[in-house]
Amino acid sequence: MLKDDITKEMLDDICNSDIIVFVTPVYYYTVTGQLKTFIDRMNPIYNMDYKFKDIYVISTAAEDEVRTFKGIKEDIKGFVDCYEGTKIKGTLFAGGLEKPNDAKKRDDYMKMAYEMGSKIKGGL
Ligand SMILES: Cc1cc2nc3c(=O)[nH]c(=O)nc-3n(C[C@H](O)[C@H](O)[C@H](O)COP(=O)(O)O)c2cc1C
Repeated sequence: MLKDDITKEMLDDICNSDIIVFVTPVYYYTVTGQLKTFIDRMNPIYNMDYKFKDIYVISTAAEDEVRTFKGIKEDIKGFVDCYEGTKIKGTLFAGGLEKPNDAKKRDDYMKMAYEMGSKIKGGL
């Protein structure tokens, strides 16, 4: 195992999670480098007895068009395609968020996030 910021405890925590929620802003129509590195460093889990099945995706972008999030969904689909038994169960794509605190003005996104969370078994 590589000695970096991902510890055995973190990998065990991920393995024992019921769901995974990937969260990222759109950077050049893809996930951030940080999220991609995190996904790549989760690689040891591929051969472990992981519990999670349902994957959720939350993303923000400056543009307010559905196509802006196409790359994000494809990136996470790549993860789902490799991890047998998992599927993307919910997505929240929040466009039009460019300046600090823009999200605070968007009650619609807050409501959508709340509703997505409340549908998760054993959730809110
Ligand atoms: C490096 C970089 C690349 C970005 N690329 C895009 C993009 O391709 N499309 C878009 O709509 N917004 C893009 N944005 C805007 C961000 O997705 C958006 O403002 C987001 O809400 C910022 O989240 P953050 O403050 O957590 O970084 C980019 C921002 C940065 C800093």
